[in-house]
Amino acid sequence: MSVPDLNSGALAPVLDEIEMTALKVTGEIPEALNGALLRNGPNPYSGRSEGSDVLSWWPEAAMLHSVQFADGEAQAYRNRWVRSHAWARYQNIEDISEFVETNPNVNILRHGGTTYAMAEGGVPLAVNSDLGTEGARALGAMTAHPKVDPVTGELFWFRADWNQPWLLYGEVDAQGQSQRELEIEVAGPGMMHDMAITASHSILMDLSVGYDFSLLQKGVRMPICWQEGRPSRLCLVPRGSGEVIWVEIEPCFIQHVINAYDIAGSKIVFDVVRYPWYLKFDMATTEFKANPLGVPWRYVIDIEAGTATETQLDDRRVELPRINESRTGRPYEYHYSVAQPSNTEMRGVLKYDLKTGHAECHDIDPGDSNSEPVFVPATSRADSAEDAGWVLVCVYRAATDTSEVRILDAHRIADAPLAVVDLGRRIPAGFHGAWIPA
Ligand SMILES: [Fe+2]
Repeated sequence: MSVPDLNSGALAPVLDEIEMTALKVTGEIPEALNGALLRNGPNPYSGRSEGSDVLSWWPEAAMLHSVQFADGEAQAYRNRWVRSHAWARYQNIEDISEFVETNPNVNILRHGGTTYAMAEGGVPLAVNSDLGTEGARALGAMTAHPKVDPVTGELFWFRADWNQPWLLYGEVDAQGQSQRELEIEVAGPGMMHDMAITASHSILMDLSVGYDFSLLQKGVRMPICWQEGRPSRLCLVPRGSGEVIWVEIEPCFIQHVINAYDIAGSKIVFDVVRYPWYLKFDMATTEFKANPLGVPWRYVIDIEAGTATETQLDDRRVELPRINESRTGRPYEYHYSVAQPSNTEMRGVLKYDLKTGHAECHDIDPGDSNSEPVFVPATSRADSAEDAGWVLVCVYRAATDTSEVRILDAHRIADAPLAVVDLGRRIPAGFHGAWIPA
């Protein structure tokens, strides 16, 4: 699974922290776009990535980027490394006791009035609107993809660890107070990245990728791989209280959830991006095989029978699916995903209409690449059309080695952007982003 070069192109780290105002804009930024697009991803302090595979890049230091919008203008861009324990050590700060040992380089999440930089299994850190780090708050170590119920404001999380307990699950109220924490028994430590909620259940995924510590002797920095014979199972946790239910599915790996919701007959619709296998380690070459690409996939889970049927929703290869988050855990019609025309490309923004099965694509030029699309609702009214709003996407332009933020009309995603903010500088590819309303 070699990556040509982690130090050139879209993945290449940036060397410094900057702030820019008076950004160059083409087109008209919607007046109602009032807030900031935040991005998160690995960016080594030295400005150079070591190693030559994606598993070496994943654990690098968290860097945040923000582009601020108000009054029809793109007002400022800034980037900051998260002030963690590791950052303080790199700066040779003598007293590092006020810094937290965590590397929240994966996601951004707003909960209980606080914006968090999220880690994979570590403590989330609160960040302010200037990307300053404000330390740990109410949330403990957890996945980078907890889910917030848009109706109740509750947050649902899990923590998968290679140390016992291998799997913890928790529920937090809208104010950030823990309401429930329970250990879920699994056969061994597994790779779990995302989860889902419905109005009635949380869904965790114990799939066929797990820890194999013998890989450490083969020079692999993160010893996780596909495990033939390890079953793939969904874990349904009734929200509030109740016993968990396990549902076996065909062996697979799922990095990201699209959404889930309850339907009549005590059934659940659970949509994901599914891989037939993932991270197969070849003992002969001591390298990972090139992963297959993921496709949109639907499970319909019968809670009482403890079974699931599964259907491929489309044959286009996609990743990093997002929705209008006022529909998280509820019936929904649209998702926005990154197209993957080949194993080495993230290029194109697809808008899927699940009612018609049709998808439209905002094309990105060959050689360029794009981030996860972030949906920004035009209004906070929950009764408004689900796709009333904009899709914000960072596009890396290879010819100039710079990034731009494209503002797309979510109704007409294939059209030319409403506006393009030319940053004149690269935002490295990174992982996830979020819209933080002003
Ligand atoms: Fe993720």
